[in-house]
Amino acid sequence: MGTLPAAPRLLLLLAGAAGLCRARFSFPLRVSPPAAPGNGSGSSRQQAPPSEADGLALASEPGAAVSFLAMVENLQGDSGRGYYLEMLIGTPPQKLNILVDTGSSNFAVAGAPNPDVTSIFFALLYRSSTYKSQGTDVTVRYTQGSWTGVLGTDVITIPKGINGTYTINIATILESENFFLPGIKWHGILGLAYDALAKPSSSVETFFDSLVSQAKIPNVFSLQMCGAGMPVSGSGTNGGSLVMGGIEPSLYKGDIWYTPIKEEWYYQVEILKLEVGGQNLNLDCREYNADKAIVDSGTTLLRLPQKVFNAVVEAIVSTSLIQTFSSGFWTGSQLACWDKTETPWSLFPKLSIYLRDENSSRSFRITILPQLYIQPILGIGQNLECYRFGISSSSSALVIGATVMEGFYVIFDRAQKRVGFAVSPCAEVGGSPVSEIEGPFTTADIASNCVATMTLHEPMLWIISYALMSLCGIILLVLIILLLLPPRCQHRFTDDVISDESSLVRHRWK
Ligand SMILES: *[C@@H]1O[C@H](CO)[C@@H](O)[C@H](O)[C@H]1NC(C)=O
Ligand SMILES: *[C@@H]1O[C@H](CO)[C@@H](O)[C@H](O)[C@H]1NC(C)=O
Ligand SMILES: *[C@@H]1O[C@H](CO)[C@@H](O)[C@H](O)[C@H]1NC(C)=O
Repeated sequence: MGTLPAAPRLLLLLAGAAGLCRARFSFPLRVSPPAAPGNGSGSSRQQAPPSEADGLALASEPGAAVSFLAMVENLQGDSGRGYYLEMLIGTPPQKLNILVDTGSSNFAVAGAPNPDVTSIFFALLYRSSTYKSQGTDVTVRYTQGSWTGVLGTDVITIPKGINGTYTINIATILESENFFLPGIKWHGILGLAYDALAKPSSSVETFFDSLVSQAKIPNVFSLQMCGAGMPVSGSGTNGGSLVMGGIEPSLYKGDIWYTPIKEEWYYQVEILKLEVGGQNLNLDCREYNADKAIVDSGTTLLRLPQKVFNAVVEAIVSTSLIQTFSSGFWTGSQLACWDKTETPWSLFPKLSIYLRDENSSRSFRITILPQLYIQPILGIGQNLECYRFGISSSSSALVIGATVMEGFYVIFDRAQKRVGFAVSPCAEVGGSPVSEIEGPFTTADIASNCVATMTLHEPMLWIISYALMSLCGIILLVLIILLLLPPRCQHRFTDDVISDESSLVRHRWK
């Protein structure tokens, strides 16, 4: 080995990164029944668009060449503030930008003035002749932020999407908290996850389900987010593509690797192993799926369960050539800055996530280079380039968010209940790829199931908390009744309690 690259001097750590880290996904009210594990049939690698598994794939009949080129580059945005799609909503059409979120299932737009929503917003409720209110209130809570609005239906068209006009459920947001944030360029949210997460109930058909049944497209969409190496939230925007109904060949290189969707609510997948700089973290694989591992375009960072996060940070610290980082960098409260002439990426290791293949005795790994998780932040100093850590800890899930997704073309193959990953051509920094996919690997050394069979989903927790509350209520009631009893009775009761067991028994049998 030759000389080590001269370590760029870490110049300073700045506070204030926390405000730039947005993360959100909704909490389910209802959970669909646990799904059967992936069926290991055939090759996991596919280059052809998915077959018409649910009989809706009229447009992809052999010979009826569908072009998805109209949908290439239909997104704008960045990892910090999300990627959005332009839509025309209502009659006459109102042009709104809609955040693409695979971690929730409601379609909602701003329906009342908000200081963080730009001027192009109009009150849909009073302006659109095709709007129909359903008069039902709906509230959606995300990891960060929430909104309350009213349910209705209206028509939409997607200029750079599927041709045609479709009638969909739409919530108009009347009140919100930490949902619209300063600097965002979108006015609504498109939840692309399953109806199990839809609020107020799963009977609210999701946008994509409506699109699939009305446009008769295959039940597949795919997402490419092109922010690799770009500032987390610069003045401009980066591009991206949301392909509805299939897979666009120009958006990926090499093979697509598929992992089964464990349960259809979030896009829940099974993670088998993590490696930092080629070194296995060696945690029990259930730690990686505590209490679920999901693919969520609406979450900015790669979020890891606390135990996994600690192990990853420890591994990065021991692998990287920099030992002087204060903990603030890892927790997201500080930025690390270097002289503009130096880039710190060579100091950090690669990070690999192993996913269960469709053939369950195999796995494949998606790898991100530091260019994806040591993320530039613009506009701090003149001669400095500052970076934040693109990974954070989480108490409720492992979330494959934009930090990772920006390396890949991700296929949400709902028809075949699987999520595919392929290397994205736009995941390059300075002409070099910043993501990799390799496989297959054996899973002989890994438990046959890394997802806890009885995950305590939110509804279950509610049931338990209601049960505990009832119990407390009953105890309280008993105490109150005892207090209200005439003194004689109270006295006797006290006697009972303080007497020893035999006297108690005697008392009772008297
Ligand atoms: C896998 O698929 C085959 C054929 O589609 C079916 O016969 C078999 O029961 C499936 N196995 C599981 C575990 O779902
Ligand atoms: C699954 O993978 C194993 C190990 O690579 C292989 O032996 C087996 O034939 C594969 N099964 C199928 C159905 O492809
Ligand atoms: C939509 O229609 C236009 C014009 O007819 C056509 O060029 C385009 O390919 C169509 N897009 C899709 C996705 O079918």
